[in-house]
Amino acid sequence: MRKPFVAGNWKLNKNAAEAVALVNGLLPGLSALESIDRVVCPPFTDLWAVKELLAGSGIGLGAQNMYWETSGAYTGEIAPGMLAEVCQYVILGHSERRQFFGETDETVNRKIKAALAVGLTPIVCIGESLEENQAGQTSEVVNRQVVQGLAGLTPEEGAKLVIAYEPIWAIGTGLAATPEDANAIHRDVVRAALGRMLGEETAASIRILYGGSVKPDNAVSFFSQSDIDGALVGGASLKVDSFLAIAQAAA
Ligand code: PGA
Repeated sequence: MRKPFVAGNWKLNKNAAEAVALVNGLLPGLSALESIDRVVCPPFTDLWAVKELLAGSGIGLGAQNMYWETSGAYTGEIAPGMLAEVCQYVILGHSERRQFFGETDETVNRKIKAALAVGLTPIVCIGESLEENQAGQTSEVVNRQVVQGLAGLTPEEGAKLVIAYEPIWAIGTGLAATPEDANAIHRDVVRAALGRMLGEETAASIRILYGGSVKPDNAVSFFSQSDIDGALVGGASLKVDSFLAIAQAAA
């Protein structure tokens, strides 16, 4: 049994005052949904304020990126240990990081290992571009991202991951994948690759989220699929009503 998992990826949105207002709005409804894992991922500068608000709520906190080095002359970067002081999760390899900030399967792999080393749970993002999708390369691309991104992990390490399949053409566009197509990628490509790398038992235990234009009105259709274990939600996580509705759908 995989516990449903819903995470909000706020991206570059919400200053500290706005973050506090959003979390205060979410708290009553979201803290009650104990049958699922709920996580919010604000910008770095909001993390400490949000951590205080979430204390005792059962709601998890995540960052959206980190560097793999523990300290040193890396201007502008944040170390794994710094995040481990304030949160439990970190989104790694989001397609926007790959697209705009040069991240690759190799850098994602280093970040996953560094996050695990300090006890953070990585939410590892994978997904194909529109061109790759139209060229029929989805399975090949997604399989490569899993194989190279997770290279060298033991089954014990792999078991700690959460994976998010987010087709790039579905992110922020309102064009979600069909639940059936997404489920086929989750089951036949992602979980199959996890099984070959980590063993069937570990693969069966790993949550695979769908991301890309998840909204209150399509959430149930995704969550009712066999291998869609939750969602990584962007735009709809920025409003109390829509994020709560999605979390309720998962619960
Ligand atoms: P979206 O973003 O829900 O706005 O499509 C999802 C994501 O990028 O994580």
